[in-house]
Amino acid sequence: MPSPADISAALLALAVDQSLDGITISDALLPDMPLIYVNAGFEKMTGYRAAEVLGKNCRFLQGTASAQPAVGVLHEAIKRGEGCIVILQNYRRDGTLFWNEFNISPVRNADNLITHFIGVQKDVTARVEMLQHLRQSKKDLQAANLQLSRLAMSDGLTGISNRRHFDEQLHALLSMAQRGGTSIAVLMMDLDFFKRFNDHYGHQAGDYCLTQVAQTIAAAFQRPSECAARYGGEEFAVVALNMSAAELSHYAQLLCDKVRALNIPHQDAPTGVVSISIGGISLVPTRDTTPASLLKLADGALYEAKARGRNCVHIVS
Ligand SMILES: Cc1cc2nc3c(=O)[nH]c(=O)nc-3n(C[C@H](O)[C@H](O)[C@H](O)COP(=O)(O)O)c2cc1C
Repeated sequence: MPSPADISAALLALAVDQSLDGITISDALLPDMPLIYVNAGFEKMTGYRAAEVLGKNCRFLQGTASAQPAVGVLHEAIKRGEGCIVILQNYRRDGTLFWNEFNISPVRNADNLITHFIGVQKDVTARVEMLQHLRQSKKDLQAANLQLSRLAMSDGLTGISNRRHFDEQLHALLSMAQRGGTSIAVLMMDLDFFKRFNDHYGHQAGDYCLTQVAQTIAAAFQRPSECAARYGGEEFAVVALNMSAAELSHYAQLLCDKVRALNIPHQDAPTGVVSISIGGISLVPTRDTTPASLLKLADGALYEAKARGRNCVHIVS
């Protein structure tokens, strides 16, 4: 087995010169540490001929990007006389960008004095660009997922929560109320004489009316412990945690007034404007209370509100 001492200086020089990576040596004893050697790999990677760069500090490869954090890391390592590895944004002779995975090591003489630095440059542009692309794809995917889950939760016409989301929220809030021994309230609402409205004004006006009313309802119940949703055609529902019958009555009455105040004309309704009927229930649930039983009670209250002439609120507790 030959020992390193058996390898001739000429062979070492050939091996260094023909390495595919860039290999550079700078003189640490001269001001600003100029390059005194660059190999063929460096010339190929950067497009610069050795004669153009020898005698210069290698920072010229950074172009105008000398403020990048990796340069600071490099600067400090050289100052401390240590090696380091960084990825730098560098520019070829033709101005094109490449990512340089660069490591540097001090070379010491027999007196332990740093006389030179040796640098090894590797063009890792393909790897960095692939990582950047992957990161962007991940971001795009996360945004698309968010958009998708929003779409899955919302009603296509009015933009407020849909029935599926409402059912999930009702289930979750009921469990919380059961665990915490607090009250839960459910409202069911119907647009009054909506079929007549559609027949008279047309479906486009009907859609507009549904959207306006939906937005009004959703704006009235915005807390994280509340959910307002379009439950069916012209039917809306609200669930609210920790709301007494008195509070529910108050908010439901306000809502009824707000919808009338939208002032959407409805010739075939007794009030002459669009209105809603609201039925609601507020109770402290037992272990046997189910989402279906709450909805049934709220539906019964809505039926009663309609029986009382519509455009009114009926709350049971
Ligand atoms: C041997 C050697 C090779 C170097 N090669 C590169 C290089 O390929 N690309 C680069 O951006 N910087 C390279 N540098 C680093 C710069 O020359 C310089 O040290 C760095 O920009 C930090 O110092 P500054 O803040 O004074 O510019 C090299 C340094 C040495 C000593």
